[in-house]
Amino acid sequence: MADLDSTEDPRDFHAGVPQRADGFFLKGGAHQDWGLKNRLARIFDPASGRTVMLAFDHGYFQGPTTGLERIDLSIVPLIPWADTLMLTRGILRSVIPPATTKAIVLRASGGPSVLKELSDERLAVAVEDAVRLNAAALAVQVFVGGEHETQSIENMTRLVDLGTRYGVPTLAVTAVGKNMVRDARYFRLATRICAELGAHYVKTYYVEEGFETVTSCCPVPIVIAGGRKLPELDALRMAANAIQRGAAGVDMGRNIFQSEAPAAMIQAVRAVVHGNETPEHAFDLYRELGRVQPTHG
Ligand code: 5RP
Repeated sequence: MADLDSTEDPRDFHAGVPQRADGFFLKGGAHQDWGLKNRLARIFDPASGRTVMLAFDHGYFQGPTTGLERIDLSIVPLIPWADTLMLTRGILRSVIPPATTKAIVLRASGGPSVLKELSDERLAVAVEDAVRLNAAALAVQVFVGGEHETQSIENMTRLVDLGTRYGVPTLAVTAVGKNMVRDARYFRLATRICAELGAHYVKTYYVEEGFETVTSCCPVPIVIAGGRKLPELDALRMAANAIQRGAAGVDMGRNIFQSEAPAAMIQAVRAVVHGNETPEHAFDLYRELGRVQPTHG
């Protein structure tokens, strides 16, 4: 009988072997709860400690921007190479196959369109709906120095409180107003404020001067936005520089889905982020996979 078998000696309790007490691989995450860590480990690959987030949430304030007119045709084929999909719940429910196993980072703020003051956002999703959608994290825009700075920071702190209740981390997205200076000093301020007030990781822009000071004094991981479309080699150089200077990954949209060869580009970005590949080798990979002729670099 199985019950009796299992109580028979000899059994090995490994009394002399201490149970492993592993740390957590991600900066600033060691003291979080299990569910929150598990979600972060679905976003950041525990092997490299990094992530390639594919961002296509732009429609939440821009409408059908170039490359996102038909997400079913332009983005769904790229899913196999992304670690994480950053999107709105509308696109998730209407377009993304539920069989996808990629980590979902759900856009959780919104309100104004490009026709209005962008910093005037509110929270735009209930945390229960995010849990229903099996979100791995919630993303909120933070406008440090913007017209509605305090409101956007309050959006973030409320989201941290709500998400933490269910073990869902918050990604704070530092949003820079049109007339504001994008330099290391600004991003040190913005990213540090987000982290101090509870964000579990922060998205910011890459700057050539002093980016390592932004990553070093932010106590949680930083991922960079791709920003406006660049020539592919330049975008790969930006990603590589950011990684070398302390970023834990990219949250890239236009530089992938507006590329001449988006599937080749996301694979080249992966080579840089997870494989420490040089931008030049990654660009060779891009050309090989995309079978496109170099036009720059
Ligand atoms: C919108 C966002 C986008 O996800 C972000 O801008 C990333 O996309 P891109 O690489 O195209 O800049 O947060 O506010």
